[in-house]
Amino acid sequence: MTELHRWLGPWLASLALVGCSEASPAGKSDNTAGTDGGTPTTASGEESTASTGSGGSATTAAGANGTNASSTGGATGSSNGASTGATGQAASTAGMATTSGDSTSGDSTSGDSTSGDSTSGDTTTGGGGRPSYATLREAAAAANRLIGAAVDAAALAGAGTQYSETLAREFDYVTPENATKWGPLAPTSSSYDWQGADAIVDFAEGHQEVVKGHTFVWHEQTPSWVSTSMSASELNAALKSHIETTLARYRGRMRAWDVVNEAVDVNTASGYRESVFYQVLGPGYIADAFRWARAADPDVLLFYNEIGAERLGAKSDFMYTMIQELLDAGVPIDGVGLQSHVSTHRYPSESDLRANIRRFADLGLRVNISEVDARTKNVPGTQEARWLMERIAFQQVVGSCVVEPGCEAITFWGVTDSYSWLNEESEEDPLLFDRSYMRKPAYAGALDGFMGLLPVRGANLVANSDFAGGATGWEATTGELTVAAAEGESGNAACVNGRTDVGDGLLQSGLLEALQAGGPLAFSAMLRVDAPSSVEAALLIVEGGEESEFNIASRAIAQDQWLELSGYLGLGFEQAPSAIALKLYGPASGVELCATRVQLQPLTVD
Ligand code: G3I
Repeated sequence: MTELHRWLGPWLASLALVGCSEASPAGKSDNTAGTDGGTPTTASGEESTASTGSGGSATTAAGANGTNASSTGGATGSSNGASTGATGQAASTAGMATTSGDSTSGDSTSGDSTSGDSTSGDTTTGGGGRPSYATLREAAAAANRLIGAAVDAAALAGAGTQYSETLAREFDYVTPENATKWGPLAPTSSSYDWQGADAIVDFAEGHQEVVKGHTFVWHEQTPSWVSTSMSASELNAALKSHIETTLARYRGRMRAWDVVNEAVDVNTASGYRESVFYQVLGPGYIADAFRWARAADPDVLLFYNEIGAERLGAKSDFMYTMIQELLDAGVPIDGVGLQSHVSTHRYPSESDLRANIRRFADLGLRVNISEVDARTKNVPGTQEARWLMERIAFQQVVGSCVVEPGCEAITFWGVTDSYSWLNEESEEDPLLFDRSYMRKPAYAGALDGFMGLLPVRGANLVANSDFAGGATGWEATTGELTVAAAEGESGNAACVNGRTDVGDGLLQSGLLEALQAGGPLAFSAMLRVDAPSSVEAALLIVEGGEESEFNIASRAIAQDQWLELSGYLGLGFEQAPSAIALKLYGPASGVELCATRVQLQPLTVD
């Protein structure tokens, strides 16, 4: 097995094998400050953001819950929450039998969904003597993590036994997708409809699954009778009453609640989303909601959940500072959810995701990866190619959670491709099971992730990536390119001076041969500027005679400090490309941009 980009999985530790000693990319210095890169939000809520504030920090305190007294749910650290209610499956994995060969009941590489036996709980493994797990529940329990799914009340009631059997067999953590939101629960100001929520909680209890309620405060699916025409005291009273009523009904039956969902919007002047709650109550509604929830049920875990904040950037930085200030003020927050609605086209690197998980864990919080799904259809290509990218994306997300002690759970936003909110726009295939409940390659990716295995990186496709060969293979789009010993870094760096536009920088063309097959790729580079700036990496692709720019990653960067810019991408083409180049750029004209260790590596699976 390739040792590069492989982390010591829990199973390796238990087998007392020698671990990999490679340092985490997240361990690199990463002091950033600045502004939003301004890349728009995608339809899936994925956001590309630059960052402010603290970057990757050192080791984590394993989700210790130091800021409040809640004792419900899984313990922290090594026992990590999976102990709560997930007991049915955990015991069965204790032996962790190993298997050899490349058995692929949910065929991990071919993209052939029909090879997966979705009903038997058949064993799926990777090669090389890895342990075998019959289900995700087993794999997650062995990793001391919870494996969750968002559950659609209508599907649970009417989709047939395959839906409920899959949910029961594969998952131990349930989030009602819509049934516990305020709007569906309280159609009028004086009535509640508990039917869908009750059915999900009953089902979970019957199958040794724990439940996270979702969500008391959100700008969507708010009852129609909640509006900006209410006074602050009316809205406060209504929200407090809703929290108290709902917590009273499910007291002792829920592990956790998303108390506030998606309160951040870095495109507003304040940074807060201008929801009805913000408009009527100001930002104080966030602290109030958590305090009312803790008072109403001191035992349930209380989460703040956010979209588009999984990567390091302006949004996650705002959220981090907000949560830190709330904790400092004594607001009872036990954990955060990083939703992770991604696209295989462009998604956070493991370096970003892990550093982000770690900084929230270092606040004493539990971290959930709370709403995972992946659009695959915006990358052109065959289903096999798209599903391989999906597999690698899911392996990366799950693996990043498993190797970060502060991350206690991964929840997929749906059980099968048939029941995904993404289908409302156009048919997508963003989940672990296909429309026939067959395990997709993504399933094998999740299993590998639970074994602590991150995607394998191939040889660097960038020539003269560390400038050991001087400027060979590189050019400046404008200005002057010089190569010299990197200040504060090992080896050489290339610097461009006299840039005349934000779009100017360092260019390596001639990547057509290496990239024309497309596929999943990891990008990273170390960058430095002489004035606070935004930096970006992009592929310039000529297809059908037209050049387009594909942004890989954007970050804010402080002055005179090296920053790792990184991202993952899935590359596919509508037509055969005729030229491909990599460009590093972004600072204002005149700002010096330096780079070294530029990497573009194909990602594969074992
Ligand atoms: O229940 C009605 C049904 O009575 C009606 O016949 C039908 C007609 O379209 O609509 C049904 O309601 C839909 C509901 O899902 C249940 O299927 C709503 O129109 C639809 O808007 C709603 O979408 C949900 C969406 O939140 C609301 O914005 C998605 O299922 C749900 O997956 C999605 O979940 C959110 C998370 O809560 C927070 N994070 C982002 C995530 C994705 O948007």
